[in-house]
Amino acid sequence: MASITKSIRSIAVIGAGPAGIACVNELVHVAKNGLSTLELNEKPSLGNSAFDKIVCFEQNDNIGGVWNFFEKPDPNLPPLNYLQNNQFNNPDKIYEFPKLPKNSILSNSTYNSPYISYSNKTFEDEIRWNKNAAYKDLFTNIPEKFMKFSYTPYENISKGRFLEPLISSNDVKNYLDKIINNYNLFKYFRTSSSVEFIEKDEINNIWKLTIRQKSRFSKIEQWYTENFDAIILANGHCNVPFIPKIDNLLEFVKKFPNVLRHSKSFRNVNDFKNGNILLCGSGTSSADLTQYLSPISKSITISQRSETVYPWIKECFTKSRNLTFKPRIKKFLIDEKYIEPTVEFDDGSIKSFDHIILSTGYHYHFPFLPKSKNYIKIYNENYNSSSPINKIGNLYLYTFSTIDNSTIGLMFHAMEYSAAAIAGVFSGIKKLPSINEQIKWDNKRTKIDKPEVPHRFQGFFTDKLEEQLLNPLFELAPLNRTVPLIKDNIKATDVDQSNPALIKAYMALISGKVNSKDLIK
Ligand SMILES: Cc1cc2nc3c(=O)[nH]c(=O)nc-3n(C[C@H](O)[C@H](O)[C@H](O)COP(=O)(O)OP(=O)(O)OC[C@H]3O[C@@H](n4cnc5c(N)ncnc54)[C@H](O)[C@@H]3O)c2cc1C
Ligand SMILES: NC(=O)c1ccc[n+]([C@@H]2O[C@H](COP(=O)([O-])OP(=O)(O)OC[C@H]3O[C@@H](n4cnc5c(N)ncnc54)[C@H](OP(=O)(O)O)[C@@H]3O)[C@@H](O)[C@H]2O)c1
Repeated sequence: MASITKSIRSIAVIGAGPAGIACVNELVHVAKNGLSTLELNEKPSLGNSAFDKIVCFEQNDNIGGVWNFFEKPDPNLPPLNYLQNNQFNNPDKIYEFPKLPKNSILSNSTYNSPYISYSNKTFEDEIRWNKNAAYKDLFTNIPEKFMKFSYTPYENISKGRFLEPLISSNDVKNYLDKIINNYNLFKYFRTSSSVEFIEKDEINNIWKLTIRQKSRFSKIEQWYTENFDAIILANGHCNVPFIPKIDNLLEFVKKFPNVLRHSKSFRNVNDFKNGNILLCGSGTSSADLTQYLSPISKSITISQRSETVYPWIKECFTKSRNLTFKPRIKKFLIDEKYIEPTVEFDDGSIKSFDHIILSTGYHYHFPFLPKSKNYIKIYNENYNSSSPINKIGNLYLYTFSTIDNSTIGLMFHAMEYSAAAIAGVFSGIKKLPSINEQIKWDNKRTKIDKPEVPHRFQGFFTDKLEEQLLNPLFELAPLNRTVPLIKDNIKATDVDQSNPALIKAYMALISGKVNSKDLIK
């Protein structure tokens, strides 16, 4: 099981967001002897690389993941035919799986000689939740020094800016483009290429990927399969929206089209002008949208089923005198007498709204993995249908699958550390601890033992992040790598330095004194 038993020469990375980019950069800079040349920005000499083939597949036509901006967002909600199944809280039920060509066809199709088929939809029109959530005025919620890899600084970020130490989403996208450029990584990426299915040949220890190449506005599909010794799952965790099960949701959407939406489709405040708005949830998306919508709306109500876990949001909500707070939405009211879109809350109160935004978060989703294997275990925190699938298990250090040796999940804060650990272990220079040790670590982080944090799978108290996750990851890094936080001369706890800036920006925005466009200049 989860120890590397075979030498790994070829690696597929799925997804070209920050995590996928970090992995590619790390892997292409490891030599056969386990030395990293990344910090020198030199690739190992010809024939001296630890790996023969590294391919990063990206379904969209551009790299950057969440930070790659889409003018036209995903739909407000899954279309009616998806809502009708009454299982819209299940990511598989609101996701369009393409019909795979027959095995006999696929087995003869290669990258250079793919099987070509025609679909009745363009990739753009498929329900794939592939249009990233970033909007034009988005800024980060953690400081610039955490939105980077230690080997490349940001450039041209103005000092003394209003948002300091935060940066705009555009800055992050430009930064990721710069990494690809500076390290000459283009050739490792295949865009418009979605990984649709993965199976493991257990006998030969090989992963077989089925890839569909289809550009955004095209109906032509090119299919092929390709084998790799290892795979890295960097397909993100803010793609498929969580739509909670609320009574009468389908009937409500039919009766009042365009009133209900998920926060992922938010792009333009003008869509909400002078409206009475209900935001459901008390996470970052809820606070983020409140600050933009507050100055232009008639009223804002926030439905919270639990108190926010973020101190800065708590402070902002307490300071905003014009917000109304309600408990969980009990049901949508669809009786004829309700001529306005109306909801009933858990406390029995009833209120009408012009817009309802579900800021209820996202599911973890690995639609291409065989369900039977649990390579990565995904489930919801409360083991019921009213929460997103946002808990993750069977992963040692949130990086190495304890079920099979080469399945990897990544999280943002630790991306560089994770990527370095993967490079160290896959190159063979570093060894994972025993499977029992790995499972012990995983159990401690999940429900089996008492979780150490009250929420979200990757939630670490920042004062424990280095000791419990980052340092053990770094022990697995290739030789010649500097500890990322030490290189940047920062501590994980510095991430909390963003709080005053987030509060300052929020207060400035809701007062109407600053507009969001000026804020991100
Ligand atoms: C609105 C918003 C704001 C955020 N702000 C912050 C912030 O300020 N700071 C922060 O640290 N984090 C923030 N995040 C979290 C964000 O998820 C991370 O910053 C980061 O983008 C995660 O990187 P990733 O590479 O794991 O995933 P992503 O950025 O989601 O990239 C995943 C990539 O995989 C591709 N992909 C998916 N499926 C397939 C497939 N089958 N085949 C091929 N390619 C595929 C996707 O198209 C995408 O390009 C924010 C998230 C959202 C939604
Ligand atoms: N840079 C930025 O400014 C920015 C902006 C937006 C998002 N983000 C990032 O994007 C990611 C997702 O954030 P998010 O806020 O969209 O999601 P989130 O953090 O998962 O928060 C979801 C919220 O919805 C609530 N909720 C879930 N199901 C519910 C239900 N059935 N009824 C009522 N409430 C329910 C949750 O409450 P419970 O706590 O009870 O589960 C939680 O408050 C995060 O990483 C975040 O940092 C960043």
